[in-house]
Amino acid sequence: MILLTGGAGYIASHTGVALAQAGIPYVVLDNFCNSQPGVLSRMGVLGGASPVFVQGDVRDAATLDALFARYPIEGVIHFAGLKAVGESVAEPSLYYDNNVSGTVTLIRAMERAGVKQMVFSSSATVYGDPESLPLTETSRLGPINPYGQSKLMVEHILRDVATAHPDWRVACLRYFNPVGAHPSGLMGEDPRGVPGNLMPFIGQVAVGRRPQLSIFGNDYPTVDGTGVRDYIHVMDLADGHLAALRYLQGDRQDSNYLVANLGTGQGISVLQMVQAFEQYSGQRVPYVIAPRRPGDSASCYADPSVAHQLLGWKAVRGLKEMCQDTWNWQHRNPNGYADPAH
Ligand code: NAD
Ligand code: WQD
Repeated sequence: MILLTGGAGYIASHTGVALAQAGIPYVVLDNFCNSQPGVLSRMGVLGGASPVFVQGDVRDAATLDALFARYPIEGVIHFAGLKAVGESVAEPSLYYDNNVSGTVTLIRAMERAGVKQMVFSSSATVYGDPESLPLTETSRLGPINPYGQSKLMVEHILRDVATAHPDWRVACLRYFNPVGAHPSGLMGEDPRGVPGNLMPFIGQVAVGRRPQLSIFGNDYPTVDGTGVRDYIHVMDLADGHLAALRYLQGDRQDSNYLVANLGTGQGISVLQMVQAFEQYSGQRVPYVIAPRRPGDSASCYADPSVAHQLLGWKAVRGLKEMCQDTWNWQHRNPNGYADPAH
């Protein structure tokens, strides 16, 4: 059985369904600080049975001890964390507490329970402003906000744990820009308040919840002046976690600590994304050009070859699926999980 911390969240819910479809049982731990209980029944519909669920905080050692005592957990995929860059600048201690202390509490509980496999949700944000592209796992690291710092700190903590305990198996997966939704339209991204990320914002404009998109800058040194990112379909990301788990459980290992980029390797500009979304959804996405957003880099995309070589994984879904599935989710659930399941 696999423990999904933050298992009710966007990426974890899709990973849970992928686990269920692969016949791997899992238990969800979540405190719903950024998700809604409604996702659990939808995970159940898509995965064949309602997930085992524990409501609690990953920083609560007693909850973790009880969970590890009750369920035969072999490995943990650690998604639980806060992820809003701006909020992390305003409330750094909140981010270090949740993301760093939370992980240390989890590691200590795993040590007590004898659980030694961990897949960690890291982020391309650990690279900061890229020195050169594409980004490889050995590219210069330099997060430029507390959120990114917290992810890099956790990577370092996990590296030290893996060094100290050779029987541990750890994979840090650096996600690039997750987008899209389950093709059923039953699960997707449901951000609270005004979306900070591009794709949910586009979705809400297309469905009429917001009048227009602001494109943050069109004077970057890119193909059309707008920012370039490596968008990856959340279903591909989910498959990447299964590949990482299999790698940790298998024999083929040079080291017990792995870091891998999960991206497509393809850079897409904001304007290209808007055009693709209009094409594949059939909806208009009005936009205005706005000033650059502080802290944004011009371009960021992965070299995903380590994940391919070591995990046997690569992204297979393109812009078409990213846009179609986002739109399918968005128009069937204009208010996210607050809407009844169709
Ligand atoms: P999300 O907010 O949808 O999911 C995180 C889940 O963790 C939520 O359900 C939240 O309620 C839960 N959670 C947070 N703190 C908790 C705590 N202390 N105890 C228990 N549950 C807690 O976010 P997501 O996009 O699915 O991201 C999952 C992970 O991947 C996060 O660690 C995030 O930092 C990382 N990540 C996300 C992105 C992205 O752009 N979405 C990119 C790179 C890395
Ligand atoms: C993408 C592009 C914007 C919104 C963030 C985090 C990162 C990671 C993923 C967790 C950029 C442009 C956006 C809008 C726009 N998360 N944009 N108008 O900034 O690459 O990464 O999410 O680890 O840590 O920083 O993603 O979706 O916010 O932006 O023009 O309303 O879209 O300028 O070029 P970003 P994003």
